[in-house]
Amino acid sequence: MIFTDQRDLALTVADSRAVEIFDEAVEAVVRFRGDPVAILDRALEIDDRFVLAHCLSAMMNTIGNASSRLEAARLSIDRARGAVKGTQERERLHVAAVEAWFDSNLDRASRIYQQVLFDHPRDLMALFAGHWLDFYRGDAPGRYGRVARVLSDWDESVPGHHWLLGMYAFGLEEVGQFRRAEFCGRRAVECDPGDAWGVHAVAHVMEMEGRLEEGVAWLEATRDGWASSNMKIHNWWHELLFRIDLDEYEQALQIYDEHVVDPERDDVEALIDRVSAMARLALLGIDVGNRWQVLAPLWVPLTVDTRNPFNDLHALLCFRFAGEDELAVRLMRAVEKNYDVAIPMMATGLSVLAGVDAFCTGYDAGALERLLPVFYEVYRIGGSHAQRDLVQQIALEAAMRGRQWTIARALLAERLSLREAAPHAFTTQVDRRLKSV
Ligand SMILES: [Fe+2]
Repeated sequence: MIFTDQRDLALTVADSRAVEIFDEAVEAVVRFRGDPVAILDRALEIDDRFVLAHCLSAMMNTIGNASSRLEAARLSIDRARGAVKGTQERERLHVAAVEAWFDSNLDRASRIYQQVLFDHPRDLMALFAGHWLDFYRGDAPGRYGRVARVLSDWDESVPGHHWLLGMYAFGLEEVGQFRRAEFCGRRAVECDPGDAWGVHAVAHVMEMEGRLEEGVAWLEATRDGWASSNMKIHNWWHELLFRIDLDEYEQALQIYDEHVVDPERDDVEALIDRVSAMARLALLGIDVGNRWQVLAPLWVPLTVDTRNPFNDLHALLCFRFAGEDELAVRLMRAVEKNYDVAIPMMATGLSVLAGVDAFCTGYDAGALERLLPVFYEVYRIGGSHAQRDLVQQIALEAAMRGRQWTIARALLAERLSLREAAPHAFTTQVDRRLKSV
C-alpha cells in the first residue's frame, strides 16, 4: 500500500502506524536525539518489508564508518534489496544510495541522494544523508548548495523547516559566508532551541572569526537545548577549542574529562573529538597525563578495516601519542595496502597520514615532504575547517621542529592573516617561538 509521510512523500508500507514511527525516526536523526535504529525496529515489527525504514537503519549504521556497526548495516541493506520490487523509484534510489555509501563509494551515494532531491526536494532523509556525505567528502560548496537548491520548496508550514536552516547555516559557514550563516543558525535555534546543529553552525562562525568569549557565551546560553542531544560531545569540543584559544587550559582539560569523554560513547565520531582535543593540547606542550593511553584501546576495534582517511588520521594520532607504535605501524600498513589512490580522497588521505606519521616519529622533513603538496587539498578527507586545522598545525610544527624557518614563517603568516583579531593559541605560541629564533 501507499501512505504519505508528514511531508507528503509517498511510502510503500503495509500500515500507517509504521509511517508515523518512520516520521519519528527521521525526526530523531535530524534532532540528533535518541536511537533512530531502535525506533525503526518498531516500524519494522509492523512491516518488515518497509524499504525506507531498512534504508534509514542502514544509513545510521553506516554513517561514521564504525566498523563495529557494518554488519547490521549490511543486513538492513539486504532486507531492503529483498523488498524493493514493486516499490517506487524514490525508494529504489534510496536503496542504491545507501548501498553505495556502505561500499565506501561516497561520490556515487552523494549523486543518488541529489537525484532524489531533484524530484523530491522535501525528502528530509535524502537531504540529511547528502549533507553528511558532503561533510565526509569535504565538499563545502555542496554542503551549502544542496540545501540552497531545495529551500524554495519549503516554507515554515512544512514540518521540520528549521532543520534546513541549521544545515544551510553550516553550509554557508563552510564557504565563508559568515553573516548569512550566523543569521540562519540563530533563526534555526529561535525556531527550536533543541536544534543542536543550528547551535553548532553558529559556534563554527565564532570559531572562524576568533570570537572566543562570545563563542563560550553562545554555547552556555544554548546549552539546555543541546546538552542532552547526540551532538553534545561535539558542541563541548567546540567550547574546549574556545577555551584553548583563551589560554584556559585547565578548563579545557576539565571539559575534556567531564563532557568530551562519555562512557556511553565509543563510536568513531565521539573518539575523533577526543583525539582532536588532545592533539591540540599536546601540540601546545600541555601535559595530558595518561589520557592517550586510556583512549588508544577504544580505537582498536574501529580500525579493523581502513575505510576513511579522516577516521584513520585520528586513530593514527592516538596510537602514536599513546606510544602504541605497533598499532600505528599496523594501521599505516593497512592504509598503504587498502587505499585506492585513484580516488582523490584516498590519495590525499594517504599523503596526510604518511606526513602525520612522519611527524609523530620525529621525521620532520618527511612530514613536510608529504604535507605541503596537499596542503590545500586536505579538505578532500572531509570534516570541517575547524577540524582539519589540526593538519595545518602539524605541518607548521614540523617546520618548527625541523628548523625550516622560511617555511615556518610563511605558514605562520598565512595563519595570522586568516584570523587576525584573535589568532589561535597555537599560532600565537609559534609566533613567539619564531621571534626568539
Ligand atoms: Fe563542528
